Amino acid sequence: MATAEQRPHAVFFPFPAQGHIKPALQLAKLLHHCHGFQVTFVHTEHNRRRLLRSHGHAALAGIPGFQYAALPDGLPPSEVDASQDMRALLCSMETLIPHFRRLVSDLPPVACVISDIEHILYAAKEMGLPGVTLWTTSACSFMACQQCQPLVDMGIVPFKEPEQLRNGYLDDTVLDWVPGMPKDIRLRDFPSFIRTTDSDDAVLKVLLRSMACHRTTPSAVIFHTFDELEQEVIAAMSTILPPIYAVGPLPLLLSHVPAAAGSAATDKMESNLSRENNTCLEWLEGKRPGSVVYVSFGSITTLTNEQLVELAWGLANSKKEFIWVIRDDQVNTGAGDPAAAVLPSEFLEETKGRSHVTSWCPQEAVLRHDAVGAFLTHCGWNSVLESISAGVPMLCCPSAADQYTNRRYLCSEWRVGLEISANVERDEVRAAVVEIMEGDKGKEMKRMAMEWKEKATVAALPGGPSWVNLEKVVNEVLTVSP
Ligand code: UDX
Repeated sequence: MATAEQRPHAVFFPFPAQGHIKPALQLAKLLHHCHGFQVTFVHTEHNRRRLLRSHGHAALAGIPGFQYAALPDGLPPSEVDASQDMRALLCSMETLIPHFRRLVSDLPPVACVISDIEHILYAAKEMGLPGVTLWTTSACSFMACQQCQPLVDMGIVPFKEPEQLRNGYLDDTVLDWVPGMPKDIRLRDFPSFIRTTDSDDAVLKVLLRSMACHRTTPSAVIFHTFDELEQEVIAAMSTILPPIYAVGPLPLLLSHVPAAAGSAATDKMESNLSRENNTCLEWLEGKRPGSVVYVSFGSITTLTNEQLVELAWGLANSKKEFIWVIRDDQVNTGAGDPAAAVLPSEFLEETKGRSHVTSWCPQEAVLRHDAVGAFLTHCGWNSVLESISAGVPMLCCPSAADQYTNRRYLCSEWRVGLEISANVERDEVRAAVVEIMEGDKGKEMKRMAMEWKEKATVAALPGGPSWVNLEKVVNEVLTVSP
């Protein structure tokens, strides 16, 4: 048994948003439990407060060889539980550098730094430490992001006219030259960061810089995906990136590690910034297999009140049973308890007994439940992988970032998704829900979803491709002295 001093020490610092923290903690647990790593997992102070508030001190108490640290994120203090402005957060990451350097110099010797924050990767390199990118969204969206610089060089981005954002230009512009991507991929399938007319757009600038960083700076890039799902794009990317390794779906890999879920202390190591409400699992009990629609837009996406009401009536008019996650900060007007405040009382009356509205649920367990037949999702990457892992087809309603690329692949390449347009109109929602739950397209998507579930399961079996890739990145990169 290696002593603490002999065990390689990995420092994890994910971009401080839910969708990035969760897979990073999953990978950290795998490295700790299966590969003997000591881990220091870094949060921002804002998220540390949220975790403590949601789960108490046990969430961050750690276990022997696995500790937490927290650094200021450079933003002014906000309401304790409020989600942060992602734009501002993206632009504030540079302020982390001195804090991070100080932290690392106070820690036991570090073998590697695992992050998706460019400034942290640069800082690691300057300190002579191997830095590895953990890219927590899809490989296809990463490839699309890599094309943003060529799009700028070609004069396509930023757009010349605001009209181009509305008049079909996004739909009509085909980019048939992207390596590893379908020849009919269009601007509409690209991450939202390109949807700007401002040549000084701060987020676009961050994206361009960070894409250059991930191409040139890390010793390796780890993707939260599995080889078979994104084969072509992974093959194309291996020619432009440092060595790449696909190690997902991480929740399935973790399910094979009893030690990772075997003790009360480990169970309490939480990545959920919000507290889960488990009542929906009781509500699901006794429901017919495949009879319930699960609706959630992840941890950041907001809806207008109008969209919420349209969605509500679409669900109500479908006559299906559903679970709907409406976060306390989901609607971008008002505060407090928006579920009660904004949902029309007629809707609540109409769907009584067949709807369950909650502010945050144990999503993975919900998706795995036999009763769930479809997922109406914003196409955040964790949600996509969790749904694929559970064999649940999706209604795709993206609203930002990589979600547009994920939608394209879900609907056209993996054929487990049906698109809902961004304005979320009630008749369209109703028709889509009915189609996915009982139509011919729905049946075919369910068949495909079960095929992908099988492939994901095989990828994540001990000895399967994702395990092998994980072992490779440990042996070839994470434990190799610079
Ligand atoms: C963000 C970006 O918005 C997304 O585009 C990117 O792909 C990942 O980072 P987020 O919007 O939060 O993520 O979506 P997603 O990636 O789906 O992550 C949400 C996570 O929260 C999932 O792991 C899901 O299981 C969890 N969740 C969501 C819950 O545990 N309970 C809920 O009620 C809702």
